[in-house]
Amino acid sequence: MSLSASPLDVSPVIPVVVIDDPATAVPLARALLAGGVAIIEVTLRTPRALDAVAAIAAEVPEIALGVGSVLTAAHVDQALAVGADFLVSPGTSPALRDRLLAAPVPVLPGVATVSEVLTALDHGWTELKFFPAGPAGGPSYLAAIGGPVPQVRFCPTGGVTPANLRDYLTVPSVPAVGGTWLTPRSLIEAKDWGGVTALATAAVTSANAARAPRP
Ligand code: 3PG
Repeated sequence: MSLSASPLDVSPVIPVVVIDDPATAVPLARALLAGGVAIIEVTLRTPRALDAVAAIAAEVPEIALGVGSVLTAAHVDQALAVGADFLVSPGTSPALRDRLLAAPVPVLPGVATVSEVLTALDHGWTELKFFPAGPAGGPSYLAAIGGPVPQVRFCPTGGVTPANLRDYLTVPSVPAVGGTWLTPRSLIEAKDWGGVTALATAAVTSANAARAPRP
């Protein structure tokens, strides 16, 4: 589908998924939907990732379909060609930045410092991935770098867990958090779709309880 809202407003949790077998992509996406998570970020970390994206685009159009671990301009083109609704990168190079700026879908470029936030603002980007969230400094660091730029919203990923997602979501500039904990490889390999749905349901419940009231 094409997104009518920012990817940061679809769900307070964004599953960052690693798919080895494209045949698991559609049931995985449906399991997330069943748990109340209407968004998925498929990372370009496996040889068949683009096939997985294409399968979801064709068969689960109701889920907001992101492509993550976008590292190059070529990745942008490949992701758009198979139906990505939004793109996520852990950082930017000049070539990647230029292609992301030209992309006809929302993008969440990765940042980890104040200067990177300001550079992103220069490009007109106000919705950013904060990566790697835990090693970079965690919720208190993110709250601090967000202070001078209240117009920016962040999706922290990298080290977000059920135990700390509340700490991130109470930061006013954080509408959503992302991570791989929602879709463990073990559950995907076991085709334990009920297990994925249970993790999604628990995460949404926990996230909604944690989120600060938003304007
Ligand atoms: C990402 O690309 O967003 C992160 O690698 C996810 O990190 P996690 O495995 O700690 O959730």
